[in-house]
Amino acid sequence: MSKVQVIFYSMYGHIYKMAEAVAAGAREIESTEVSVYQVPELVSPEALERTGAKAAREAFAHIPVAVPDKLVEADAIIFGTPTRFGMMTAQMRNFLDQMGKLWMSGGLIGKVGSVFTSTATQHGGQETTITSFHATLLHQGMIVVGVPYSEKGLTNMNEITGGSPYGASTLAGTDGSRQPSQNELAIARFQGKHVAGIARKLAAR
Ligand SMILES: Cc1cc2nc3c(=O)[nH]c(=O)nc-3n(C[C@H](O)[C@H](O)[C@H](O)COP(=O)(O)O)c2cc1C
Repeated sequence: MSKVQVIFYSMYGHIYKMAEAVAAGAREIESTEVSVYQVPELVSPEALERTGAKAAREAFAHIPVAVPDKLVEADAIIFGTPTRFGMMTAQMRNFLDQMGKLWMSGGLIGKVGSVFTSTATQHGGQETTITSFHATLLHQGMIVVGVPYSEKGLTNMNEITGGSPYGASTLAGTDGSRQPSQNELAIARFQGKHVAGIARKLAAR
């Protein structure tokens, strides 16, 4: 049995939808146990209410909160974060910054790490968010995996779409009204399956 954890932060639900697609893809690999977690919120309930995020977050309130010490149980961890000014959210950064103990013990060395993201706009920093996230995974000794071009959705020129060799992604629109497209969800499923397949091979060695 190999274990895949999908750990995400989402304010308005786009990354949550992508996380479910990533998890579904990972579940396609036999003998793989997939768990989905969200990182703790840092924004006050008042601010969430004011920005309309409170209602959106109810859709995934049932997802358990991630605990840093539990990461050591995984063979692969796939992280999802929206973009904030071209980088990961403070909520995800805060979670990663609680991994000092794991860093010191080498608890994540040799595990597979992968990242997916979401922006409001087409050129709003998807690639910088994912590649800057990779630095933390490399410091932890993880094996960084993206999405190879065998996923044909990456070359789709018929529509506006997220997705790159760095990882799955979606575009939310500046008002958040755009939802992950079929192409983006397919790339997310591919990422989950691809990472889980590699983790399975590593676990079987
Ligand atoms: C403070 C802040 C900074 C943001 N920075 C960017 C950005 O640099 N580029 C961009 O395209 N969208 C940016 N966004 C939009 C978010 O990335 C977008 O709301 C998010 O991807 C939606 O995902 P979610 O529904 O999972 O929260 C920003 C939003 C906030 C609140």
